[in-house]
Amino acid sequence: MNTTERASFEAINGMDDDEDNETNPTTSPTIGDIIAERMDRRDLMRGLLASTVLAAALPAGFMAAGFMAAEPAQAQTAKRTKSAFNFKEVTAGVDGNHHIAEGYDADILIRWGDPIMPDALPFDPMAQTGARQAKQFSYNNDFVGYFSLKGSNRGLLAVNHEYTSTELLFPGLKSVSDARSADPAKITRQMAEVEMMAHGGSVVEIERGKEGKWAVVERSRYARRITAETPMEITGPAAGHDRMKTKADPTGRRVLGMINNCAGGTTPWGTWVTCEENINNYFLGPVPAGHREEANWKRIGIPGRRYAWGHYVDRFKVEKEPNEPNRFGWIVEIDPYDPTSMPKKRTALGRFKHEGAAGIVNPKGGQYVLYSGDDQINDYVYRFVTRGKVVPGKRADNMNLLDEGVLSVAKFGADGTMEWLPLVFGQGPLTPANGFASQADVLIETRRAADLLGATKLDRPEDVEANPKTGKVYIILTKNANRKPNEVDGVNPRADNKHGHIVELTPPDGDQSATRMKWEILVKCGDPSVAAVGASFNPLTSKDGWFSNPDNCAFDAMGRMWISTDGNADDFNGRSDGIWALDTEGAARGTSKHFYRAPAGAEVCGPCMTPDMQTFFVAVQHPAEDGKEWKAWGKDSTFDDPSTRWPDFKPGMPPRPAIVAITRKGGGKIAV
Ligand code: FEO
Ligand code: CA
Ligand code: CA
Repeated sequence: MNTTERASFEAINGMDDDEDNETNPTTSPTIGDIIAERMDRRDLMRGLLASTVLAAALPAGFMAAGFMAAEPAQAQTAKRTKSAFNFKEVTAGVDGNHHIAEGYDADILIRWGDPIMPDALPFDPMAQTGARQAKQFSYNNDFVGYFSLKGSNRGLLAVNHEYTSTELLFPGLKSVSDARSADPAKITRQMAEVEMMAHGGSVVEIERGKEGKWAVVERSRYARRITAETPMEITGPAAGHDRMKTKADPTGRRVLGMINNCAGGTTPWGTWVTCEENINNYFLGPVPAGHREEANWKRIGIPGRRYAWGHYVDRFKVEKEPNEPNRFGWIVEIDPYDPTSMPKKRTALGRFKHEGAAGIVNPKGGQYVLYSGDDQINDYVYRFVTRGKVVPGKRADNMNLLDEGVLSVAKFGADGTMEWLPLVFGQGPLTPANGFASQADVLIETRRAADLLGATKLDRPEDVEANPKTGKVYIILTKNANRKPNEVDGVNPRADNKHGHIVELTPPDGDQSATRMKWEILVKCGDPSVAAVGASFNPLTSKDGWFSNPDNCAFDAMGRMWISTDGNADDFNGRSDGIWALDTEGAARGTSKHFYRAPAGAEVCGPCMTPDMQTFFVAVQHPAEDGKEWKAWGKDSTFDDPSTRWPDFKPGMPPRPAIVAITRKGGGKIAV
């Protein structure tokens, strides 16, 4: 990395998560808009304004919960009824191990390095190669989807391998900044090859044994590794467009690999949809001045320069292959039941930093409706409605449903309503006058198209998921510490939002394709005992029950919401990330309970429950990535610090990301 590149890297990335830096250049609403939208109608009705004023006058810690003090005692008592979740909470805190609520087991099912393919070699972190990694379970498992083979007792787990925490992957790197420097003097070709094979996804067959414990089925015919080099088909409106063509692929319809696959979804026709998120990190500069893709690159943060791949593989250097970045940032659909099937990048769903792709069949029209957050501060939430309807029981008829439909972006009003704005070429500003000559152009530069439509900037949208029981849609906003006091609005009500919040959408008559929906805030996260935080959990929430930085959400078969977090480990809360159960209905609405706590430095993803609700699969990413462990190791990652232990700790073994299977001791449904 030269000096210019270094300055640019630090300007773009700092040493923080890329998602916490803004690449949205559009201006904020006018001051008049801000005053009008400052408080949403419901908050005013609840007296939050009064409570905020009161909070300012009281010592920190005086108020038990954000909105509680402003409410009459009678109303508070009315809220104190039972949560829908029945379990004894785990204690919040931080240490090197994981912890589960009393009466449950949390067993490691599969870890980074475990063999998947029949001819895989055993894991040896001191002698890792790309060829070895390509046949082993991989790093930083994020999304987890369960596909049944025999009810809830045997199935396939489809798992995303989002990224590599390079400083934890290899021994000998001297610092996190070295590991993320994209410097070929520090990251060798062999290391880059391991990283490329450590990205993508895995399909593993698993079975529940007589003792009720899960195990990976060896030599399964379904076993599959998908990497940064797996051939994929590009489908939908952008397939074959000139901006998708490269030297290696003059058709614009074939690409190698998927990268930074974060969350995702499972479709009713049994496919895995997996989301490319921070794809900018993999591309190196320099950016050719005046290039026609310049605005496109800038808006998505290219060159991100976190990985050194471009020093060894030309297509990851924009100067050499300027269209390659246009072939990443999509939602990929994969058939987990057919290990020979070619994954498909579905361009109709838009190109941005997709967090997830949870969907629901529209009860009003039969279309498949898929929601996706664009995970960066001040970016947007999208919805895709298929043109065709889901055909129950006819899998083949649904397999290309995601190629045609309407992509829209969310715009929120201060009056508790929001609107879905369609991203359709030729409509409104999406015309040649603004550089769009086709729907392919609109999709390749989805963010810029959404800017022009006036979409609402949100506090880092992660998962967006519809509750299959109620049809209400939940937007998980993880945080935005950059939001200034003069930038707050109804749907982003806190400046310096370190803790995140969750927004609930209610479609009219359950119509998921409706243009307008109602919205309100379910919870504002953070410690409710600190008034200045402004959290708004239900007062039933215990001192262990609140969380910050919600990331993924999942609904169980009863329609109960589970939240996993990413960011509590950033050392401002004194608690690790984990899993929380969050009530959404009735008087207990907004009550949160702590179910599972991850080891220090880890974020928790997945989560995913079997249909019988007896097993909860949870993904634990990057244990020990919080920096404290790194420092404790001294300057070399010799993998020998016992403080990073978690159940499989052995001297000489790095802390390994893993999928954890949570079951009830003696069997039974979870938290019932
Ligand atoms: Fe990969 Fe948005 O978390
Ligand atoms: Ca995430
Ligand atoms: Ca995350």
